[in-house]
Amino acid sequence: MITLITNIKELLQVRETSISKVSGAEMAILPTIKNAFLILKDNLIANFGTMENLPEIKADNVIDVTGRIILPTWCDSHTHIVYAGNREQEFVDRINGFTYEEIANRGGGILNSAKKLNEALEEEIYDQSRLRLEEVMHLGTGAVEIKSGYGLTIEGELKMLRVIKKLAENYPIAIKATFLGAHAFPIHYKENKAGYIDEIITQMLPEIAKNKLADYIDIFCEAGYFSVEETEIIMEAGIQFGLKPKIHVNQFNSIGGIQAGIKYKALSVDHLEIMRPEDIQSLKDSETMAVALPSCSYFLSIPYTPAREMIKAGLPIALATDFNPGSSPSGNMNFVVATACIKMKMTPEEAINAATINGAYAMGISETHGSITKGKRANLIITKPISSYYQIPYAFGSNLIENVFIEGQILT
Ligand code: NIG
Ligand code: FE
Repeated sequence: MITLITNIKELLQVRETSISKVSGAEMAILPTIKNAFLILKDNLIANFGTMENLPEIKADNVIDVTGRIILPTWCDSHTHIVYAGNREQEFVDRINGFTYEEIANRGGGILNSAKKLNEALEEEIYDQSRLRLEEVMHLGTGAVEIKSGYGLTIEGELKMLRVIKKLAENYPIAIKATFLGAHAFPIHYKENKAGYIDEIITQMLPEIAKNKLADYIDIFCEAGYFSVEETEIIMEAGIQFGLKPKIHVNQFNSIGGIQAGIKYKALSVDHLEIMRPEDIQSLKDSETMAVALPSCSYFLSIPYTPAREMIKAGLPIALATDFNPGSSPSGNMNFVVATACIKMKMTPEEAINAATINGAYAMGISETHGSITKGKRANLIITKPISSYYQIPYAFGSNLIENVFIEGQILT
């Protein structure tokens, strides 16, 4: 099936040859073609160029998008969209003056979600999560990483990972699964942290690997959660089971998690709200992607990742939603891109690079996703008629998406 799209006002993120990521000053460059055509063959991008160079072609389907901009779908490399219920009461508690940490210390937070998750049936969790996935697909997300981490028991973690697997089987969107058993210590292990780590390593990991339920391993490396030493032990075990690390670090404190991630060749280190100069220095000369989560900073009123300093130092940055019930109950990548521009002072070009090709890198799929390149997946956002792509961050509350293509099929 050949689809020809004509009269594209501007085609964004066009890369003639496949690249894996963009770093530092390169992030300011977003290659585009004005007045473009695009040809899709089945689920792949087959050809593109300017309208003057449109070849003679017999298409099954011709779509004229005069006035509209096309870009690759967002690659959201950090989410927790499989969860049960919500934490709206904690949201109101925070408005009334409690901090995220105070709520967590009284048994709320991650442990609150873990209780709900363990009480819910797998089918209920699937149904709730599927609605979130469908919502983000309509918001232009074409690839997503989803973490476990609200089970904190072998049954709960496996239940979450099975739900992720079922979502991947039932939806056309690319999904990567991450095992985050080390998200928090369950209450009954509060005085026996080594016991929980042992359960992760000797019980959860073998079962997950045997059933091929995860691609990556994650740990919440943070004061009051998993220390750097514990993080290293769990990363090492994960790697032995074939899971590359992608870890939560520097959300509230800089305790050495970045250096640990780099040491174990983590694909990404995520959050990075609190960055010391040495953290930025360590990331230079590594292949580890720095992932910023501005919706989390917005929702919790914590600092934003210092993107300008990091880009100036030559680092790549990816943007993701962190969609979860506690710190970012939104999976809207358009809002993430806008917030990165408004609050982190990233330019629209940098933010779009960060949310497409660099997001793809942070989930190991930049060979197939994240840019308009021949042979890559036909995953496209078609905007409504807009004056320029600056509108995407500028009109931050508006939905500017008219259509989304995933694997060459238009979403209905
Ligand atoms: O990425 N920081 C750790 N984990 C999640 C939040 C978890 C929660 O509050 O449920 C995050 O922000
Ligand atoms: Fe997270």
